[in-house]
Amino acid sequence: MAEDKTILRALAGQVQAIPPVWMMRQAGRYLPEYRATRAQAGDFLSLCYTPDLAAEVTLQPIRRYGFDAAILFADILLIAQALGADLWFSTGEGPRLSTITSAADLARLKPVDEIDAVLAPVYETVRIVARALPRETTLIGFAGAPWTVATYMIAGRGTPDQGPAHALMQADPATFDALIEMLITATIEYLSAQIAAGAEVVKLFDSWAGSLKGDAFARYAVAPTRRIIAALKARHPGIPVIAFPREAEQGYIGFAKATGADCVAIDNSVSADWAAAHVQVDGCVQGNLDPKYMVLGGPELVSETRRIVRAFSQGPHIFNLGHGITPDADPDNVQRMLGAIRG
Ligand code: CP3
Repeated sequence: MAEDKTILRALAGQVQAIPPVWMMRQAGRYLPEYRATRAQAGDFLSLCYTPDLAAEVTLQPIRRYGFDAAILFADILLIAQALGADLWFSTGEGPRLSTITSAADLARLKPVDEIDAVLAPVYETVRIVARALPRETTLIGFAGAPWTVATYMIAGRGTPDQGPAHALMQADPATFDALIEMLITATIEYLSAQIAAGAEVVKLFDSWAGSLKGDAFARYAVAPTRRIIAALKARHPGIPVIAFPREAEQGYIGFAKATGADCVAIDNSVSADWAAAHVQVDGCVQGNLDPKYMVLGGPELVSETRRIVRAFSQGPHIFNLGHGITPDADPDNVQRMLGAIRG
């Protein structure tokens, strides 16, 4: 059965004439059917924690577009809530959390073995989606990478430069390291449970990896990813892992080898030709169309899509955007992108 799945083939290193495709945030506000289900749920977090509705929005883009992969509908910050942080989403403001700025704040978090009490509905969503998906569609589970989740837990919100997290790393390295350790352990448990529930691939989102430089990149982007992947592969032999150290630039080079990732996802700040030469040499890559084309459309959407397909055509490739599709995207542009990929 696995051989029918184009995503699994790409992750195994196979070169395919037509690359498999899915999109980050494919279940999202640009889709009217998503907005309707979200309204039914009441708010974003209720949607994440109501398995029937979370499964429904996971499946919506598969029904509409026939993507090769479905990604579990949840959020990278649920794990912070499961560890005892307060989490809320205020409209127009993005996520807000209670902050961690001291050893005392850290000590108030819950033990890692209690996260399933909060995250059980997420595993139920995975089970429902796994049963409902067409046989050729791959189910991707995910988590935030420890550094990225820590940046939100420390600052209590999204920050343009991750200043508060860098400040804690300098001022109180013991507390900072203890938080990263806790997140490594929790992420292994969380992804392991998603795999046990039916996720066939998992992806680690390190959205803020780009602000880690030099030794900090090695310690807080590479090493946690390597440890999480090693633990997952020990428990679930053969489970493919996609790593997304967003805006890592030169850090993309050798990232798969250094971490054991089966695929490196590339943002759109680097060119596909550069990534083919420097990253795809080590195996599968995912990416990297600029999400702005989903808003702009036009002939550039088609030519850029074709250019990326061509640039990666000599190696294993999963077509995706360089970051999530935005709420102002036109759903018809997604169809045009698929036409340009699949012909
Ligand atoms: O990709 C998917 O379709 C799967 C579901 C998914 C969501 N968030 C749903 C979501 C995934 C994989 C994520 C990952 C995520 N969440 C990341 C890493 C990827 C990235 O974008 O860099 C981060 C940093 C978060 C944290 C987060 N969640 C932010 C910053 C926001 C607000 C920004 C925004 O787009 O509004 C969210 C909310 C969120 N997560 C939405 C969705 C569909 C929009 C919420 C809504 O419906 O109102």
